[in-house]
Amino acid sequence: MTSSRTQSAVRGRIVTFRDNPFNVPPSEALLVEEDGLVVMEGGLITQVGAYTTLRDTLNADTTVVSYGDALISAGFIDTHVHYPQLPVIASWGQQLLEWLDRYVFPAEAAFSDPLVARDTARRFLGELLRAGTTTAAVYCTVHPQSVDAFFSEAEGIGARMIAGKVLMDRNAPENLRDSVKTGYDDSAALIGRWHGKERLSYAVTPRFAITSTPEQLEAAGQLLREHDGLFMQTHLSENLHEIETVARLFPERSSYLDVYDHAGLVGPRSIFGHGVHIGEKEFCRCHESAASLAHCPTSNLFLGSGLFKLFEALSPERPVRVGLGTDVGAGTSLSQLRTLGEAYKVAQLTGRSLHPVQAFWLATAGGAGSLHLEDRIGTLAPGMEADLCVLDPHAFPLLDYRASRCESVEELLFTLMTLGDERCISATWVGGACVHTRENGSLYG
Ligand code: GUN
Ligand code: ZN
Repeated sequence: MTSSRTQSAVRGRIVTFRDNPFNVPPSEALLVEEDGLVVMEGGLITQVGAYTTLRDTLNADTTVVSYGDALISAGFIDTHVHYPQLPVIASWGQQLLEWLDRYVFPAEAAFSDPLVARDTARRFLGELLRAGTTTAAVYCTVHPQSVDAFFSEAEGIGARMIAGKVLMDRNAPENLRDSVKTGYDDSAALIGRWHGKERLSYAVTPRFAITSTPEQLEAAGQLLREHDGLFMQTHLSENLHEIETVARLFPERSSYLDVYDHAGLVGPRSIFGHGVHIGEKEFCRCHESAASLAHCPTSNLFLGSGLFKLFEALSPERPVRVGLGTDVGAGTSLSQLRTLGEAYKVAQLTGRSLHPVQAFWLATAGGAGSLHLEDRIGTLAPGMEADLCVLDPHAFPLLDYRASRCESVEELLFTLMTLGDERCISATWVGGACVHTRENGSLYG
């Protein structure tokens, strides 16, 4: 592990973005430096460019970590994931509401124990780094100690993380319910302890409309008004039975999104998981409010929820901010490469082909934009935070074989997102320090 205080540098094939590949031709949006150098100091990137140009500017004692022909990308961004569901990833046979009852709620009940929370948070963060993910928007459980455990482990790594305590005051097992008052008070205390500390931000986290009373949603809106810079994360229009239930519980609201809007929960830094079944009116509302959608393809396929209309969401007339989410435990992998591969297939099923440059943009710069963090993370450029991952095109024999036939970086990116997974991440850097290598693991093994 290197220290972020001193200058550090990595050499390899840099891939990053100069523009949005949904607005301009993908090859114009992609920036490639075949033999590139990223120089980092004080947690930030100070220089990005050709190795031959920059090598003479380095401090005399700076060692360059050379990754050969591996790709150096901004760290991946996961905009929707549940760390307490790691123990129930790959649970068989149910769709959303029954899956929650049968697997998720019992698993989340165990997080009343701070040791369970700490151990799972460590394992989860180790898995994120193994996948090349350096920022995530994370659901904890209803227990405040689950948030303390997550944030204290994330702080130890120095990673930019967003997380919050789930709010749930109805339609959940008794041992997982808070109340309007305890949910508000516990969230306010967690905001005081963690929001804005180091690189951590708090997300007010009503689980979804089914498990919160209108009064609890109002209290969530009040928290957002009372503190600057908070995020808000919840689920929206994922599954048809869920949508029917919400319509029954909130007959006075014009749509599922309107339930949240009425409570003041729709705005910049609001992250709505899924939105599989929303229509034009809701896309417009997300666009005008600068709220974002988290596209979670492995989850939507695993639970049989439906096909997200990515290209409709991103329509240039009223583009909605979209990030990618793994949504583990409904999602089947913490790897953004695996998630991109499934996003491609979901798009194919809607009659559209997701270009590899668009796909990698979603996992990095687009994800950052969906979190309103595009000025800090998601691209490799001077002044950006020094979070990156290194992708090895020779990670395993079939990948090596297919990669050797690639005639462009774009083709290689498509090969990586179709065949690749955690095995391809040879290193992950956070805040200018190497925090994970494939050979030696991370702080957390
Ligand atoms: N809707 C409400 N809670 C959840 C959850 O934990 N996972 C998913 N995928 N959808 C939800
Ligand atoms: Zn979710």
